[in-house]
Amino acid sequence: MDAKGLNFSCTRCHTENGHQVEGRYYSTPATTNHSLAMPVDSPSRIACESCHSAHPHKDRKNSTILNNHTARIACETCHVPLLARKKPTLVWWDWSTAGKFKEGHKYIVKKDALGKVSYHTKKGDLGWAKNIQPEYAWFNGVITHVLATDKIDDSKPVRLTILHGDKNDPHSKITPFKMMRGKQVYDPVNKTLVVPKLFGPKGSGAYWKDFDWQKSVAAGQQAVHRKFSGKVGFVETEYLRPVAHMISPAEDALSCESCHSRNGRLKKLTGFYMPGRDHSKRLDRIGWLSCLTLLVLAGLHGVGRIITSKGRRNS
Ligand code: HEC
Ligand code: HEC
Ligand code: HEC
Ligand code: HEC
Repeated sequence: MDAKGLNFSCTRCHTENGHQVEGRYYSTPATTNHSLAMPVDSPSRIACESCHSAHPHKDRKNSTILNNHTARIACETCHVPLLARKKPTLVWWDWSTAGKFKEGHKYIVKKDALGKVSYHTKKGDLGWAKNIQPEYAWFNGVITHVLATDKIDDSKPVRLTILHGDKNDPHSKITPFKMMRGKQVYDPVNKTLVVPKLFGPKGSGAYWKDFDWQKSVAAGQQAVHRKFSGKVGFVETEYLRPVAHMISPAEDALSCESCHSRNGRLKKLTGFYMPGRDHSKRLDRIGWLSCLTLLVLAGLHGVGRIITSKGRRNS
């Protein structure tokens, strides 16, 4: 937002139309019928491309190469090298440890080295981090979510956000995400996530007064008219959130080697060939074959030169 320079307001990018603020992650499910951050853009200002165009790099070393990357790589992938560069961001929230007390039924509150609350009786354990690398995925702008009525597989961490898109979808780009992990209360019999009641008067089931998950979930599920088996458990969950803010100064953009190397940032993205990262047996063979051909040709050429020069000297 460049506080010391142009000092953008939120609405420089988030234009609104009849109180409908642009920026598509507000509703669940995320809208499925458009892809604002893509080159085929709507006239509203929300995407980077709306102001910068899809070919923003000019008059600089590698500008053509960089512009060639914008078709398949989101601007933010290169321009947000690290998340939470100034203020820590929440990355872990374990509700299962909530409800511990000091003597005299007093709340426990602990802080971590970053000065953030790392345990609170009402919330459980909280994990904070600074300067974290985003996660990367092919993404076409559509996210669907696991809903409170969906059956979940509780044998492994439940991915709450389902990202759509892949390498073969021309509308997908490699996009950065913030990963949020946690442990939350669920119904291990019906195998669904649940809505706990957190606040309210004592005796109402409100967790932050009664500190009883069973009562809290019973009250919450009743309020939203959903089934509850009466049993509670805790399941690990993961939530990926697309990154569109926290753009760094241009000179901090990712370098070629951050991606084009064996252990680069895109090492987990598979299914496509990336120079410098992957070895394709076929490409390697073509490479060595052409080297060999060159050598043979060069050799023949050399022999030819020797013969002809000899011929010349003799004449
Ligand atoms: C330089 C342009 C820009 C500015 C300035 C900006 N945003 Fe955004 N914001 C974006 C883009 C791009 C997206 C992604 C929207 C999309 O892909 O449809 C986004 C997404 C969001 C989202 C949804 C994100 C999510 O993860 O759910 C929220 C909320 C948001 N912005 C709030 C704000 C607020 C509040 C401010 C001011 C403090 C602000 N933005 C300033 C460009 C901007
Ligand atoms: C409302 C229009 C607008 C939007 C939307 C917008 N930008 Fe910008 N951006 C600007 C302007 C204006 C500048 C300053 C240009 C200059 O100084 O020449 C700028 C500068 C930049 C710079 C250079 C910063 C520096 O260090 O000089 C980068 C990188 C950048 N934008 C990336 C992005 C990315 C990535 C997005 C999408 C999240 C985005 N911009 C969205 C208008 C916008
Ligand atoms: C493959 C990585 C990559 C992608 C993708 C990328 N950029 Fe860049 N961008 C860079 C690098 C590297 C620089 C130069 C940084 C420096 O100054 O050394 C740069 C510079 C810029 C600048 C400063 C002006 C300039 O020409 O130096 C702006 C503005 C900018 N990028 C905007 C964008 C926008 C908008 C997108 C998406 C349409 C985008 N970039 C996509 C890597 C990328
Ligand atoms: C964010 C990671 C990233 C960065 C940074 C990046 N690249 Fe790439 N590059 C890719 C990916 C991914 C592909 C493959 C794209 C595809 O398959 O369409 C690619 C493809 C290429 C290709 C093959 C292009 C083609 O047209 O087939 C070249 C050459 C290349 N990059 C050079 C560079 C150079 C030079 C830089 C630095 C100026 C750079 N890249 C920075 C991710 C990156």
